[in-house]
Amino acid sequence: MSIKKEQITSALTHVLHPQYNKDLITLGLIQDLIVQEKYVSFTLELPEKNDALANELKKMSSEAIHKFVDKEAVLDITVGINISKKRELEGKDGAPGEQQHQHQHPPQPQPVLQNVKNIIAVASGKGGVGKSTVAANLAVSLAKTGASVGLMDTDIYGPSVPTMFGVTERPGITTDKKLVPIHKHGVHLVSMGFLVDTDQAMIWRGPMVTSAVKQFMQEVRWPELDYMVLDLPPGTGDIQLTIVQTVPLTGAVIVSTPQTVALDDARKGVAMFNKVNVPVLGIIENMAYFTPTDMPEKKYYIFGKHGARKLSQKLEVPFLGEVPIHENIRETSDTGTPVVEAAPETAAAESFSGISELVIQALDTRNKEKEATEKIEINIRP
Ligand SMILES: Nc1ncnc2c1ncn2[C@@H]1O[C@H](COP(=O)(O)OP(=O)(O)O)[C@@H](O)[C@H]1O
Ligand SMILES: [Mg+2]
Repeated sequence: MSIKKEQITSALTHVLHPQYNKDLITLGLIQDLIVQEKYVSFTLELPEKNDALANELKKMSSEAIHKFVDKEAVLDITVGINISKKRELEGKDGAPGEQQHQHQHPPQPQPVLQNVKNIIAVASGKGGVGKSTVAANLAVSLAKTGASVGLMDTDIYGPSVPTMFGVTERPGITTDKKLVPIHKHGVHLVSMGFLVDTDQAMIWRGPMVTSAVKQFMQEVRWPELDYMVLDLPPGTGDIQLTIVQTVPLTGAVIVSTPQTVALDDARKGVAMFNKVNVPVLGIIENMAYFTPTDMPEKKYYIFGKHGARKLSQKLEVPFLGEVPIHENIRETSDTGTPVVEAAPETAAAESFSGISELVIQALDTRNKEKEATEKIEINIRP
């Protein structure tokens, strides 16, 4: 059952601020409360910096919500500092008639995606090879391991997240005008498709697209994430370069079908990431073969055999696995529940789970061996 905002406010009246001896709601310390199904996010606004107290209040708030509302609630609590609150609270407690001075704190410029541990780009040279399908199933598989996962769909011309995750609602907006991701199938989601009319975007010139994507990436309020999966637009042009320069990617995975034309483009993808020093975690072969349901022992290599696997050997990047062609994969994507969630027992779903395990391993190895990726400036033609 979906959680209601009133249930959250009511639970938080049980949490007392030790200094003022009043609850968080009465003190007005809860801001930007957003509730979507079981996902609850809010800012706990404190009058001064005090990490120990902030952690204690966060813990008490989580416990109250899990106890009084729903033990499965997924919480995203951000701590904000607002000095003007101090006057206000002391005014409230001490001298009631005192004039309240609104003293706005200047906003601090924040690095992009600073609360995300690993950022993984899913790229392909060519469109239609299943990049979005892989990104969606990778994100859900990672979330199933208990990790906190986000998926950002940056494909302005062909956003897929709204369809693949069955999102019809609009994302929430915080008072400082940040977008709050939608939480569905265990993943925090945002898509260019939530914001931009695809038909409209078709007539935009390149620079408009790059600036829209850049702005979009800076204006989302992500919760703390273990993994963020970035679904890149197909190709290796300006938009892809902008994205790579805007966020410090931990690594990239390249999706290709086994056929030669797709492989040529996959090779360009690997070259692009090499150029900007983003480690390529590996190549995934999608639509590797087809097995008819009534002949489970057969494998038909419709687009050629082991093309992407051979390319990975040639380029000396890891091979992360193959995904068969299966009606189930297309059907579950079209109806809004990725196959690893809709039919986890199937061979198709298991191939994605295997891939996500290898991605986790590749990230661990990468993080042990290399420093965090630095953003590299490459000039984009105007
Ligand atoms: N392994 C697969 N088996 C069957 N259909 C697939 C498979 N991978 C992708 N598809 C389907 O192919 C189409 C294109 O996939 P998509 O992930 O949108 O590609 P891209 O993001 O690379 O353009 C979608 O309809 C998707 O459901
Ligand atoms: Mg796509």
